[in-house]
Amino acid sequence: MQEYAASIIMDAEVFVITAGAGMGVDSGLPDFRGDHGFWKAYPAYARLGLSFIDCANPQHFADNPSLGWGFYGHRTNLYRNTIPHEGFAIIKKWIERNSAEYFVVTSNVDGQFQKAGFADERILEVHGSIHWLQCQMPCSSSIWMNDEVVRVDEASMRALHPFPRCPDCGEVSRPNILMFGDWSWLPDRTRIQEHAFDRFLESNAERRIAVIEMGAGCAIPTIRATSERIGWDLEKATVIRINPREPGIKSPHISMPCGALEGLRKIDALL
Ligand SMILES: NC(=O)c1ccc[n+]([C@@H]2O[C@H](COP(=O)([O-])OP(=O)(O)OC[C@H]3O[C@@H](n4cnc5c(N)ncnc54)[C@H](O)[C@@H]3O)[C@@H](O)[C@H]2O)c1
Ligand SMILES: [Zn+2]
Repeated sequence: MQEYAASIIMDAEVFVITAGAGMGVDSGLPDFRGDHGFWKAYPAYARLGLSFIDCANPQHFADNPSLGWGFYGHRTNLYRNTIPHEGFAIIKKWIERNSAEYFVVTSNVDGQFQKAGFADERILEVHGSIHWLQCQMPCSSSIWMNDEVVRVDEASMRALHPFPRCPDCGEVSRPNILMFGDWSWLPDRTRIQEHAFDRFLESNAERRIAVIEMGAGCAIPTIRATSERIGWDLEKATVIRINPREPGIKSPHISMPCGALEGLRKIDALL
C-alpha cells in the first residue's frame, strides 16, 4: 500500500489535501474524538459535564461570555502557540518537486496550514477560522482579524474580563466559526473559499490528482465525504486516507492505518 501511495504521489499533477482534527495531533493538539477524547483534553469540562457540542454553542457569547470566550480564548491561544509538525513541510516539498497545483480543504479552524506556509487563497476552511471574529448578533456582515488577547483561567476554563467586543455595536464578539445550532455564523469568507475550490476542481478535473486525507473522523464526516466525492467522481483521482483509527476506504483508494506524520514520513522514505 505504501509503495502504491508513493507512486501516486510521484505522478501527481495536482494535490488536494483534506484534513480534520487528527492532522493537529502530531503538533500536540487535541482532537475531540467522542466525549472521552474531549474531556481528556479539557478536564474542566468533564467536571462541569459539558460536551464539545455543549461548549461549541454560540448562545454562550450572549448568555455567559466568560464560558464562550473561555473555550474559544483558550483555543485561540493554543493554536497561536502551536508549531505545525514536519508533515506539513513534507507535503509542501512534494508539491514543489512535482511543480503541482494544490488546494487544502479542512474542517480545522486552527490556521495551521497558513502557518506552515500554504497560501491563504489555496485553503478552504469549511467551518471558518478562529483567527477571524464577527459580531455575535450579528449587527452587520463584517468580519475582522482576531488580534485579541484573551486571558483564560484554565482551572475553570473561564475567560477573564475584558471580553472581545464588536467595534460597531459594542456587543461581545465571537469567532467566525460554524458552531452547533448556529444561525448567526457569517459564511461569506468560507463561501468565497468554496467558489475558489470549485473553480480549482473544474480546471484540474482531467489531471492526475492525489487526495491526501489526514485525521478526518466519521462523527462529522464533511471532510471524508469531500475526499470520497473527488476520488469516485474524477477518473484520475486517488485518495490516500491516513488515520490510525478510522482508515477504511474502498480500493483502488489507499488506506494507511497510522498517524499523519508517520504515514507521510513512510511515503516520503520511498520517493
Ligand atoms: N484543530 C482544530 O481546528 C480542531 C480540533 C478539534 C476539533 N475541531 C472541529 O471539530 C470537528 C471534529 O471533527 P474531526 O473529524 O475533524 O475530528 P475528530 O476529533 O472527530 O476525529 C479526529 C480523527 O483524527 C484521527 N487521528 C487521531 N490521531 C491522529 C494522528 N496522529 N494522525 C492522523 N489522524 C489522527 C482519529 O482517528 C479521528 O478519525 C470538526 O468539525 C473540526 O472543525 C477542530
Ligand atoms: Zn455588532
